[in-house]
Order: sequence, then structure tokens, then C-alpha cells
Amino acid sequence: MNKTLIALGILIMTVLPAQAIEAPSLSLGKTLFEATLLGTKGKSCASCHPQGKGLAMVGDFNDLELKDIINACLRDALGGALISTDSQEMNALLAYVRKFQKNQQ
Ligand code: HEC
Repeated sequence: MNKTLIALGILIMTVLPAQAIEAPSLSLGKTLFEATLLGTKGKSCASCHPQGKGLAMVGDFNDLELKDIINACLRDALGGALISTDSQEMNALLAYVRKFQKNQQ
């Protein structure tokens, strides 16, 4: 095999997984949204927001505001612990919640 191909292969193997970790993942967001283990009340986000109920107006908020709201629901509605606003989990939840957005920001 020629050296350029090998170098390219190594580059792709190192860059692709890093990107997969960085990008907010909708499937992780969905999993978290439906997980009852995030809190202590046996509820998930989806218990109160099934099919995005009550989330159509999320376009009124910027990302930071939404993360604060998500944390407020986590703490008060689920009885769970706050999630760091720059964590992969928070960004995944944010991306998932934005899916239900009906209005423009
Ligand atoms: C016990 C019910 C309940 C649970 C569980 C819950 N929420 Fe909420 N959520 C609410 C209520 C009530 C509001 C306020 C709705 C309003 O003011 O119109 C709200 C508002 C929101 C909003 C703002 C929407 C808007 O347009 O005002 C977001 C985003 C949100 N919740 C996300 C989440 C996420 C993510 C979870 C899981 C971590 C979650 N919620 C769990 C009841 C809940």
C-alpha cells in the first residue's frame, strides 16, 4: 500500500470518531429525553412533553436560555441533578428539543 493512502487512513480514523463525539447527537438527545433515570420521580421529559407537547415555542429562546430551562425542568420536574451547560448530554438534549420548534428565533 502506498504511504499516502496509509497516512490518509490514519487521519480518517483519528478525525472521524472525534467528530462523532463533538456533534450534538439527536439519538442521544432522544434517549435522554425518554429516560426516567435522569431524575428521582420516575418521570422522563417525555412524560410531560410527549411528541414535543409544550415545546413549540422554544424558538423564542436562545441556546443558553433553553439550557437553563432544561436544567430547571431537570431539577424541579424530574427531581434530578443539573447538567453542565457545555456537556455533550446538554447539547444533545438541546438539539432534540429544537426539533419540536415551530416558530423562528
Ligand atoms: C412534570 C412535568 C415536566 C417534566 C417531567 C419536564 N417538563 Fe419541561 N416543562 C414543563 C412545564 C410545566 C413547562 C412550562 C410550560 C410553559 O410555561 O408553557 C416546561 C417547559 C419546558 C421548556 C420550555 C418550553 C417553552 O416554550 O416554554 C423546555 C425546553 C422543556 N420544558 C424541556 C424539558 C426537558 C428537556 C425535560 C427533561 C429533562 C423536561 N422539560 C421535563 C413540565 C415538565
